[in-house]
Amino acid sequence: MCGIIGYTGTDDSALDILLTGLNGLEYRGYDSAGVALANDSLDIYKREGEVSALEAAVPEAPGSVSAGIGHTRWSTHGPPSDENAHPHTDEDGRVAVVHNGIIENYQALRDELVARGHEFTSDTDTEVIPHLIEEQLEAGENRQTAFRQVVDRLEGSYAVAAVFEGSDVIYAARHESPLVIGLGDEGNYLASDVPAFIEYTDQVIYLEDGEFATLTPDEVVVRDEAGEIVEPSIEEIAWDPEDAGKSGYDHYMKKEIHEQPRAIRNCLRNRLAEFEDRVVLEELDDIERPARIHLVACGTSYHAALYGAQLLREHGIPTQSFLASEYRAESVAVDAETLVIGVTQSGETADTMRALREANGAEATTLAVTNTVGSSAARECDHVCYVRAGPEIGVAATKTFASQQVALAMVATALVDDPDPALVDALSELPDQIQQVLDESHARALADAYVDADAYFFVGREYTAPVALEGALKMKEITYKHAEGFAAGELKHGPLALVTADTPVFALLTEGSRLEKTLGNVKEIQARDAPVIAVTDVPAEVERYVDHVLEVPSSHPKLTPILANIQLQLASYWVANQLNRSIDKPRNLAKSVTVE
Ligand code: G6P
Repeated sequence: MCGIIGYTGTDDSALDILLTGLNGLEYRGYDSAGVALANDSLDIYKREGEVSALEAAVPEAPGSVSAGIGHTRWSTHGPPSDENAHPHTDEDGRVAVVHNGIIENYQALRDELVARGHEFTSDTDTEVIPHLIEEQLEAGENRQTAFRQVVDRLEGSYAVAAVFEGSDVIYAARHESPLVIGLGDEGNYLASDVPAFIEYTDQVIYLEDGEFATLTPDEVVVRDEAGEIVEPSIEEIAWDPEDAGKSGYDHYMKKEIHEQPRAIRNCLRNRLAEFEDRVVLEELDDIERPARIHLVACGTSYHAALYGAQLLREHGIPTQSFLASEYRAESVAVDAETLVIGVTQSGETADTMRALREANGAEATTLAVTNTVGSSAARECDHVCYVRAGPEIGVAATKTFASQQVALAMVATALVDDPDPALVDALSELPDQIQQVLDESHARALADAYVDADAYFFVGREYTAPVALEGALKMKEITYKHAEGFAAGELKHGPLALVTADTPVFALLTEGSRLEKTLGNVKEIQARDAPVIAVTDVPAEVERYVDHVLEVPSSHPKLTPILANIQLQLASYWVANQLNRSIDKPRNLAKSVTVE
């Protein structure tokens, strides 16, 4: 949520690097963007809208600029506008600041500043920071101390970076919002996430909560909360810059849907001992079989958590999934006997992190199932199982959902003494089966046929019920059409009132998920004239009851839903494409939500 980029270097190309970085971070927010270029004076350019609007506003030849910061925004305080776009400055334009997160005490700070005569030009919480820095400078503090003292006064969650006129130094600090430093030959980089600078360097330092960093073209100094210099660990990112590009696809989402065979292969690599019918997750070696498991997650990850919880329950471990925003340690039985699994693509979602921190506070064992190496979840949990999907840029999660499902199926298998050998075999076949779905799907034709529908419904049972929820979420996120997912049995208890000839229903009819019962619900739907699209691994058994079939290969009953979901992703994608929606950057959404 909001993307920060900074660069200080020796090759005068700061503006290009900042704009490239902002394009790589747009998935974090895209309602306005801006840059501050540190010359003798600070040159600020900001525009409401996507980064392309900013690109049109910056000078073609900005002169020799070797340092600057930039930001792409997802609004919290104040609507998207040129004025509310970051960077924000003090009244004299001596310091420029970008910020991600929420400053909870901003109103008190702002009132204080207004009382002392400061005038504000935006509605943002961020703007208090440069005004406070200005006061510290006027009080005679040097820049580093001024920055630090002001950050110390902020409450809430934030990542913040500042540059000053006539200087190529970038000052940065983080508290519960990600910041990563890239170490390059020609200079150093600062960003909310690695895609911003992966084109230039794969050597990174993840800042820890409470740390401050000072970046110059040839040096990065990290200090802890007490101001002591720390020796940060430098990690190498194992990505190809191409992983973060579109590779010829029209949209990141389409590329990421098609990357699923590779993502699942990566997720499974070295984790299946097929000859022994075992899953080998060394990450879990030290975890004793818990008395109970809680899964905490948001959005798409919550649907993966629902799916994972079913698998874990079947192994006899009492398991509940919680929307992370609703998880309160004091009202659930969480203790040292509990394993709390945070399912989070980004590893930074504020609600999920708060839930995990409460679980840590209750002395539970915590496990992060995440895609993001070095993320807050990965660092703060006792254990981490990476899903290894590779960078996902499209705001609507696709390949990471499939990878989370597979990772959770492996976690469930690894935690029990008597794993199901058929499941281990079926996992190894999954990548090829996903490829088959991608090659043979005719979801596009169906999407074309139903693009004018009033609404879309999705029903499933047992293992497919979470997929029905996810199918609906995907559809609403990228098409802006009404879409709902239900456990098939619930349809008759209310939602059936919405079903008409103009509301196609996707019915997940896969073997092992009580298909016969869902077929009964299909009849109720058809009696209300709604077209039914079956997503099924047994077309011969269901085709006479439905209007259309989207077929998937047969797998283990617990894994077929993963294949069925690919058809739903494609259906949503093609409806959104027909409607000409902003598929990779749907309105009002952001990929990484770092506010509660
Ligand atoms: C945002 C994204 C969703 C994602 C959710 C949880 O709302 O738009 O796609 O599922 O956050 O994100 P996480 O990174 O924790 O999986």
